[in-house]
Amino acid sequence: MVEFTLPKPSRVKKGKLWKAPKGAKNTRRIHVYRWNEDDGGNPKMDIFEVDMDTCGPMVLDALIKIKSEIDPTLTFRRSCREGVCGSCSMNVDGLNTLACTKAISDTKGDIKITPLPHLEVIKDLVPDMTHFFAQYQSIKPWLQTSTPAPEKERLQSPEDRAKLDGLYECILCACCTTSCPSYWWNPEKYLGPAILLQAYRWVIDSRDEMTGERLDNLEDPFRLFRCHTIYNCTDTCPKDLNPAKAIGELKQMMVERQV
Ligand code: SF4
Ligand code: SF4
Ligand code: FES
Repeated sequence: MVEFTLPKPSRVKKGKLWKAPKGAKNTRRIHVYRWNEDDGGNPKMDIFEVDMDTCGPMVLDALIKIKSEIDPTLTFRRSCREGVCGSCSMNVDGLNTLACTKAISDTKGDIKITPLPHLEVIKDLVPDMTHFFAQYQSIKPWLQTSTPAPEKERLQSPEDRAKLDGLYECILCACCTTSCPSYWWNPEKYLGPAILLQAYRWVIDSRDEMTGERLDNLEDPFRLFRCHTIYNCTDTCPKDLNPAKAIGELKQMMVERQV
C-alpha cells in the first residue's frame, strides 16, 4: 500500500530555540535541520536567532556564525565559499542552492535550511553523496582515446572548445539531481541531470574517441530516458547551467544514430 505520510521516526520535530544575544537589535530567525544518529530519535528543526549586524552577507556566513558562536556541533560541508567547490549545496527556503552564493538579503522573514532532499542524511546538513559519485564514476568522466598519444597535447579548435561552454562549469553540487522528481523515484537506475550533463560534456568533446561506447552506456530505459523534461534541474542550478538541454541533446544523438 502506498504511504503518504513519513514514517514516525522520520518526522521532523520541534527543536531548540537559541535566543539572540542580549542587546542584538537586528536579528533573523534561522531554522536549521538537525539530526545525529548517535543521539537517536527524530530529526528536529532548531531555531537560531542570529544578530545580522555582526553576520556576513551570505547564508553560509550565518551558518559559520552559528557554528562559531552558538552551537559548535552544527555540521555542514563547505570549502571554497565562492561557488566553485560545490560542497555547501543545501535547501534554503525550499530551493536547492549553494549556501555561499545565496545572499541573506534575497530571503524574507525566517530562513529555513534543510539538507538536499531525497538523500540519506549523515548528520545535520550533510547528505550522503556516495551513490551520486558512484554514478559519476560510471560515466568514466575522463578523456578516453584509442589513437596513440601525440607528442604534445591533443589539439582542439576554438569552435570545438566553445561546445564545452555551459558544461565544464558544472561543480557537481547535486542541486539539480536532488530536485528532479524522476531521480527521486528511481535514484538507483536513473543517472539524474548532473551526471547526464557530465556525460554529454565528454560525448561532445572533440578530443574524446569513445563517443559510441559512451552512448551505448546510456542506452537503457532508465539511465537516460527516465528524464521527463520537467526542467526542475535547470530552474535550480546555482551556476545557471542547463542540464535539461544537455539531456535533450543526448536523447537526440541517441535517436540520430538509430536512423
Ligand atoms: S548542473 Fe548545476 S546544479 Fe547540477 S550539479 Fe552541475 S552545477 Fe550543480
Ligand atoms: S528535465 Fe529531466 S533531469 Fe531535469 S528535472 Fe526534469 S526529469 Fe529531471
Ligand atoms: S563553499 Fe564551495 S561552493 Fe559553497
